[in-house]
Amino acid sequence: MRIARSLTELRTLLPAFRTRPLCLVPTMGALHEGHGSLVDRGRAEGGFVAVSIFVNPLQFGPSEDLARYPRTPEQDLAFLAKRGTDLVFLPRAEEIVPPTATTTVTPGPAGNLYCGASRPGHFAGVLTIVSKLFHLFSPEIALFGEKDRQQLFLIRAMVRDLALPIRVLGHPTVREPDGLAMSSRNRYLDAEERKRAAKFPKLLEETARKWETSPPKTDKEVGAIRASLEEALAREGFRVDYVAFADTETLLEITVPSPCPIFLLAAIFLGKTRLIDNLTIGPESLRV
Ligand code: PAF
Repeated sequence: MRIARSLTELRTLLPAFRTRPLCLVPTMGALHEGHGSLVDRGRAEGGFVAVSIFVNPLQFGPSEDLARYPRTPEQDLAFLAKRGTDLVFLPRAEEIVPPTATTTVTPGPAGNLYCGASRPGHFAGVLTIVSKLFHLFSPEIALFGEKDRQQLFLIRAMVRDLALPIRVLGHPTVREPDGLAMSSRNRYLDAEERKRAAKFPKLLEETARKWETSPPKTDKEVGAIRASLEEALAREGFRVDYVAFADTETLLEITVPSPCPIFLLAAIFLGKTRLIDNLTIGPESLRV
């Protein structure tokens, strides 16, 4: 496994990886099995796998967790080496986001919904850094987890809108045995919160199954399903950030008659920790 810690080192190393398709897995480190599955998927695509580790300051709001975001570079490198990664890019923040940089990539209106509404500027920060990584690596393939459904949607839109010659692949969410979606932020949870967190995906799952058994016939019924999920989440002690039923093609909130499949997207706070998750509602055969 080769490691580049600067742009110059990256540019020196990259030509050796041009003999097979290059697959890029952008990460912010604090790696877990979810990232591991992205590396495995990249290897299965048959090319070289490159992983970037960069805690991107542009995607954190002023009162968010940038300072305490977990940074575990040595463990991450050991994890990636074992997983068969070919190239790791571990740059210093100032080199990727110089203090003088002013240019940004702004998402379309879907970037202001859901996570974008609670975290203003978040997705512009994500797209700016992801497009920079795309320019630096020129990968044939880029891999992202479906857990960050809105992020994946907006990156796909950016690639389409800017005609970037990159195949963006989404990879299914990896879950703990109790159903909690793996996330670097799960390590913020104390033991009691961690136990309770498993209720979050369970309630989403129950709502999805109910919807499939008896799809809502009016927007009022959709509203009632949302309200009942929000109440159930609040009863478990979660503070609901948002719950949304979204069109898979536009990511806008659906109206009845609803398209199929749809995304159920949600974010909650458990203590100070914000968790997101999503499920696809609809027959397996139609899933995107
Ligand atoms: O999903 C993440 O870890 C980040 O948002 C990403 C895509 C690496 C951009 O900083």
